[in-house]
Amino acid sequence: MKVDVLLGLQWGDEGKGKIVDVLTPNYQVVARFQGGPNAGHTLEFESQKYVLRSIPSGIFQGGKINLIGNGVVIDPALFKAEVEALEASGHKLIDRLYISKKAHLILPTHRLLDDAYESAKGNDKIGTTGKGIGPTYTDKVSRNGLRVGDVLHNFQEKYDAAVEKHKLILAQYDFEYDLKSLEEEWFAGLEKLKSFKLIDSEHFINNQIREGRSVLAEGAQGSLLDVDFGTYPFVTSSNTVCAGACTGLGISPHNIGEVFGIFKAYCTRVGSGPFPTELFDADADEMRNKGNEYGSVTGRPRRCGWIDLVALKYTIMINGVTQLIMMKSDVLDAFDTINVCVAYNIDGKRTEEFPFEANEEIQPDYVELPGWKTDMTAMQSEDEFPEEFNALLSFLEEELEVPIKIVSVGPDRAQTIIR
Ligand code: GDP
Ligand code: IMO
Ligand code: MG
Repeated sequence: MKVDVLLGLQWGDEGKGKIVDVLTPNYQVVARFQGGPNAGHTLEFESQKYVLRSIPSGIFQGGKINLIGNGVVIDPALFKAEVEALEASGHKLIDRLYISKKAHLILPTHRLLDDAYESAKGNDKIGTTGKGIGPTYTDKVSRNGLRVGDVLHNFQEKYDAAVEKHKLILAQYDFEYDLKSLEEEWFAGLEKLKSFKLIDSEHFINNQIREGRSVLAEGAQGSLLDVDFGTYPFVTSSNTVCAGACTGLGISPHNIGEVFGIFKAYCTRVGSGPFPTELFDADADEMRNKGNEYGSVTGRPRRCGWIDLVALKYTIMINGVTQLIMMKSDVLDAFDTINVCVAYNIDGKRTEEFPFEANEEIQPDYVELPGWKTDMTAMQSEDEFPEEFNALLSFLEEELEVPIKIVSVGPDRAQTIIR
């Protein structure tokens, strides 16, 4: 069997968690391939709401195996808190959550370094989630990182050596910190982490493929936050695109099957950086309020704007998306008209290609479509879609040249329409 990949096509928070949960019954294994606790994946069902950060979103449906892949970075303290919250709500994970020995560890000093770097950037700060993501991936690439597998032998020695290096860097910043209390929490988390199955996940996943089991790879963040193709430097520090599933799980590109690309019917971004279709008016407030656009990790209000087809065509191309999933359609229920950005004007020139720098010089070119002015949240099938909504779907499919296979009309698992 091939591995299907589900990933975000915008700046994250598209609704990946919800859809992974919806699709999980079709799979035997769900595997996260990159990112870390910078992610916040929200799921709602049976009047309960859960936010997952490092644990894959396939954990709630029918005893499936969930894997944290080698491309992920793990903070044991946050991992422990996440596991305990799930256990408290009756979800036992111990037998069905596996962790790659090659996943890198976020040390307490990585979190401190994230804060120190951000403070030093002043007005140019990235607006990171403050979870130590950048410094951990930096250590991975510069060959100074610690991996989950390292906890099995002489760990304290390796830990101390890494922390000494970090302290030398921190000393260059005007930055006060209390490492001791962070370490206490962190080492308690490490004990929890060690109680799970720590595996050679690349062998595991390839055996699953060989034995004909179905695997869904779950992305975090979104393609416009990819370290290579996103709006650099306002990006995260991993490859969020489809290729990241190959490196983050150890699978061959030949083994990739469907690529599910997920997007909101509008657009949001949290943190700094370019956002060509951003709105600052009452429409943005309506999207933020109705869509509850506040970060699930940091609580920060998300910036809101119209859907951007220039950016979506770009991320569909980079990822080789085969099926589209449109989220939060219901948030636009009350709008008289819907704007769809179809091109950018840069220095008087019109382009449909996402540029090297998506900066504030860009003037979006919009097509205006009529709104449907109908509550969609209780709809169960596409037969109930208003005419204007169908017209929007047809317009998007024609422009993006990929079918929209799922439409989401509310946060609950049940508010999902498969076409
Ligand atoms: P993720 O990071 O991609 O998993 O997305 P988040 O969980 O960070 O953000 C998506 C938010 O939208 C969550 O609060 C979801 O509960 C909510 N959500 C998902 N789909 C829909 C939808 O179709 N309509 C509405 N109104 N909310 C949705
Ligand atoms: P999910 O998986 C939205 C953003 C941060 C910041 C930038 C870098 O829930 O979609 P980092 O802490 O990664 O170094 O921050 O990336 N960011 C996200 N934005 N959703 C996410 O994850 C994000 N993870 C990171 O706000 O702009
Ligand atoms: Mg999120």
